[in-house]
Amino acid sequence: MIRAVHSFPRGFLWGTATAAHQVEGDNRNNDWWAWEQEPGHIALGHRSGKACDWWGGRWRDDLDRSAADGHNAHRFSIEWSRVEPTSAVWDEGAIDAYREIAKGALDRGLMPVVTLHHFSNPLWISESGGWVNPEIIPLFERYVRKVVTALQDLVGIWVTINEPNLYAVLAYAMGAFPPGGKDIGKAVRAARNLTLAHAAAYHAIHEIQPGSLVGLAHHYRAFWPARPANPLDRWAARARWRMVNDLIPRALADGRFRSLIWNERLPQAAGTQDYFGLNYYTAETIAFDPSQPGTLFSRGFFPEGSDLSPTGFIANEPEGLWEALSWAHSTGLPIFVMENGVEDPTDRLRPRYLAAHIRQVWRAVNFAWPVRGYFFWTLVDNFEWERGWTHRFGLWELVPETQERRKRPSADFFREICKANALSSDTVAAYAPEAFEWLFPPKGRMRPEATTA
Ligand code: FCB
Repeated sequence: MIRAVHSFPRGFLWGTATAAHQVEGDNRNNDWWAWEQEPGHIALGHRSGKACDWWGGRWRDDLDRSAADGHNAHRFSIEWSRVEPTSAVWDEGAIDAYREIAKGALDRGLMPVVTLHHFSNPLWISESGGWVNPEIIPLFERYVRKVVTALQDLVGIWVTINEPNLYAVLAYAMGAFPPGGKDIGKAVRAARNLTLAHAAAYHAIHEIQPGSLVGLAHHYRAFWPARPANPLDRWAARARWRMVNDLIPRALADGRFRSLIWNERLPQAAGTQDYFGLNYYTAETIAFDPSQPGTLFSRGFFPEGSDLSPTGFIANEPEGLWEALSWAHSTGLPIFVMENGVEDPTDRLRPRYLAAHIRQVWRAVNFAWPVRGYFFWTLVDNFEWERGWTHRFGLWELVPETQERRKRPSADFFREICKANALSSDTVAAYAPEAFEWLFPPKGRMRPEATTA
């Protein structure tokens, strides 16, 4: 039988992504730990606890797993509250521990990609107003300078801030993240300060390490009009797209911050990405609804008949990743897919989700677009923020009480892809047979990308 082989360019980075608070455990000095202690914040009253016990040293075994599975990169984050437990007081031991992780990654053949802010803040920062207080900008820059100076011989790719768009909304408008704000004006203010903090970090990192690659991980969500012929649905989908997807990247491109509330010039932010970092999970359809002013007069729901994850959190809509890649490519920057994945404890959906999304990345490299890497979310089940342990995103299952790891079939599937630097029809047949005809349609089925499984 003829095989199809979707090959990736030499040097393409394959790995998984993690975040400090989600894997380290015992992060007692940040706003998330405090938030978890208050009832009602986390699903089923779950807590991060020991998480995946990376701070206890289990990062070593987990990175052994990554290396054995053919990955050549790993994205992890640094916990600000460990490095700077109180203002301007540095914990050199914590910095050394992060050096050890970065070095441990390199020793295993994994290129370290390091995130400097992934949703959690030191308590002293949150107590002084968090991200709505512009004073955070120089404080973040000071912390970034400290970390980059200490790790520059080991790390060359930096993600300043993870998903500033989603973070601003969840922490300041939707009340799901600490500090639990419910004010859209504050969310926009936080988005502005996050943009400026990124810009300050970008300039600082380049001063310290001119040859580094600096960007952020942007959460892209596809918004499609529920009734494409309806102009109000089209307007509503566009409004969400502008606020969620376009606001921060536009400011980083041309220095203009154009929210629906106010416009401002931020010239220091213009041109502050060396690459475009994309986190993509799912797509939504949007219907105009005049009774919903808080969500830009619209309601969002998953496309009818979509292939949903077990809790209904994610719909398998790979066309949205294609849309995200096309949009990112319009900036002319190299692209990294910094996160992509699905919660699925039984691993029934994950293999076809993985295959279908990697196929979209291949469509882009096949057009010679400069996509440089793909990071799956995530290696081992971890503490999923307000969803606690109810959402399982790992290639490996974790039993948090015993710290036991159990391999899911997707880990092997991903290993085949990473090792071959390609997605082939054989591996899809072996690991995601139900998606075979979707991805490799028999004669007569045109437009395979547009159909769902
Ligand atoms: C992303 C976050 C990451 C993880 C995944 C499921 O939005 O960056 O920490 O929670 O979602």
